[in-house]
Amino acid sequence: MDSLYPLGEKMNVTESAIQSQKVSKTLPETMDRDLSKLGNNLVTKIHVLMRISQIYDSKNVALHQFIKESLQTMNTLIKTEGSLSLKILRDDLFLNEQRLRYSVEGFTSFKYLLAQWKKRFIGEVLFKGPLDERVLREFIYTLIDLKEGQEENAALFMRHLIGCGISSIVVNPLETLEGEEGAMTLRKKDQREVAQKVFFETIGTIKEVITKIKGKQYADVRKLKRLAQKAVDLVMEDESILLGMATIKNYDEYTFNHSVNVSIYSLAIGRRLGFSRSTLTELVITALLHDIGKSKIPREILNKPGPLDAGEWGLMKKHPLMGAEIVLNLKELGEINPRMVIGIFDHHLKRNLSGYPQLFRKKEVSLFGRIIQIADSYDAMTTPRIYKKVPFTPEQALAIMLKERVFHFDSLLLKIFIGLIGIYPIGSLILLNTGELGVVYKPHPDPEWADRPQVILVERDGKGDSKKKVVDLTETGEDGHFRQGIVKTLDPRRYHVDIAKYFL
Ligand SMILES: [Fe+2]
Ligand SMILES: [Fe+2]
Repeated sequence: MDSLYPLGEKMNVTESAIQSQKVSKTLPETMDRDLSKLGNNLVTKIHVLMRISQIYDSKNVALHQFIKESLQTMNTLIKTEGSLSLKILRDDLFLNEQRLRYSVEGFTSFKYLLAQWKKRFIGEVLFKGPLDERVLREFIYTLIDLKEGQEENAALFMRHLIGCGISSIVVNPLETLEGEEGAMTLRKKDQREVAQKVFFETIGTIKEVITKIKGKQYADVRKLKRLAQKAVDLVMEDESILLGMATIKNYDEYTFNHSVNVSIYSLAIGRRLGFSRSTLTELVITALLHDIGKSKIPREILNKPGPLDAGEWGLMKKHPLMGAEIVLNLKELGEINPRMVIGIFDHHLKRNLSGYPQLFRKKEVSLFGRIIQIADSYDAMTTPRIYKKVPFTPEQALAIMLKERVFHFDSLLLKIFIGLIGIYPIGSLILLNTGELGVVYKPHPDPEWADRPQVILVERDGKGDSKKKVVDLTETGEDGHFRQGIVKTLDPRRYHVDIAKYFL
């Protein structure tokens, strides 16, 4: 490891990095949760308004109610924030200079708004004061009437608004930034787009399925199957894109997000095991539905902040069995391979069968069950929960799992899993010997270089926006030495780095 600084110097590098990162504390990457919710609501409202305005003319009464609702959302934001700027930078939306993360429900609206504004070369809309119905109508219809691909649209828009006596809205053109592509090729960008779509659509679909089952209604799981096939296609091409998505740990949508993450990890393990496409699809569906039995457990127990009492635990321990029963009754899944049902039944059994459900006769935990168990434990440990708000870092979680492997996990599968996410797992925040911070993006395909993954540098421009520059830690300089090396992993919360953002 001659590329790393000697220990004494390492300390200094660490210190100076910590010093320099202190500056970043004034530029947090995460937005206040309430503002984020209002922001998502706002984007959805604008999306619907743009859609409706393409169907009805501006005098239509059907529009009236929706405009009123939208005004309420917008004016609440304008009043609390003073003014309201919605701005596009690259593929992100910024609300008053802070990046808006999309919620599961908001995803389609985000994509719509970004695409429609970009086509019209609109980069920013600033609402300087509260709006009324006339102003909002005028704004939406003028926006929709702009010709696509016309660079002077923002100026035309402004002229029109002024002509109508509206001075509370400012429209700015789209900013194009140099080096937008960074180190990513166009093809990679396309794949990431598809991966994002599959990821969010799957979360939405699993949510729908769980809600339907809870309400004893018909649940259409065919869509889930189609999405599973798409995920398999994606992973066959490049496993790291979806693995990156699994670093998005959504606290509000735990159950759904968790199911999708577990399916991504399981899928990646299955691929390493050389499973066929059809087996992989079955594995994904099994992983997506592994906790479906929890739909029969009351919310209060699932979200209980404190420890469960004996009765509650007893019920909780039934979720694998209830899950297996539910899946057996999902006719739309078509022919169900028994290993799917068994995988769900098995996923908490543990290697020494010390888990649950309790068995009358000893048996081996099934392969699907063993895979899902690893994926499940890792995701649960690395996600904040109501009863454990500070989760383990990827590195800590793997260390715990390694310690428990003799009793709980399949050692070989765990080894594959660690090889998959690397000794520096995807999504870890790391300190480089150059003093820079980075987010692990993709492990090196050769296990010999496991300590030299590809890393996205944590760099921000003047606006606090990350630059997403990917560096390969196996690259050497003119002197033949490695340009950069990892000193240690850091806790992203301490440095206010929003890891998920680097994968969106
Ligand atoms: Fe479970
Ligand atoms: Fe689970």
